[in-house]
Amino acid sequence: MRTPPAIHFKDIEQVFPGKSGAPIHALHALDFRIERHEFVSVLGPSGCGKSTLLRLLSGLMLPSDGQVEVFGSPIKGPRDDVGIVFQRPTLLP
Ligand SMILES: Nc1ncnc2c1ncn2[C@@H]1O[C@H](COP(=O)(O)OP(=O)(O)O)[C@@H](O)[C@H]1O
Ligand SMILES: [Mg+2]
Repeated sequence: MRTPPAIHFKDIEQVFPGKSGAPIHALHALDFRIERHEFVSVLGPSGCGKSTLLRLLSGLMLPSDGQVEVFGSPIKGPRDDVGIVFQRPTLLP
């Protein structure tokens, strides 16, 4: 049997409530795999959904639809094997 990918974003949809009332569709039909030992960079303009992708991967939030899997197991909540270096310093002085 084929080893499952290290990370699999499966048919991800991420919708946020917008301030004006219109929903923000941050991620649509996102589906890709990252194999074991692959090194991947995610590039894109501000607001395209990069941080949303990382929050989903760390289990800090769950997708509106679809599923993220790590080695074949669905992410159901925050993980202790993922570290995030935030864009802005978040520690007190
Ligand atoms: N918690 C949230 N509530 C409402 N909208 C959000 C939230 N998080 C992200 N968004 C919106 O989703 C889109 C993608 O945001 P984000 O993932 O932060 O993009 P990036 O990291 O690529 O700059 C943007 O339009 C952003 O305004
Ligand atoms: Mg970001």
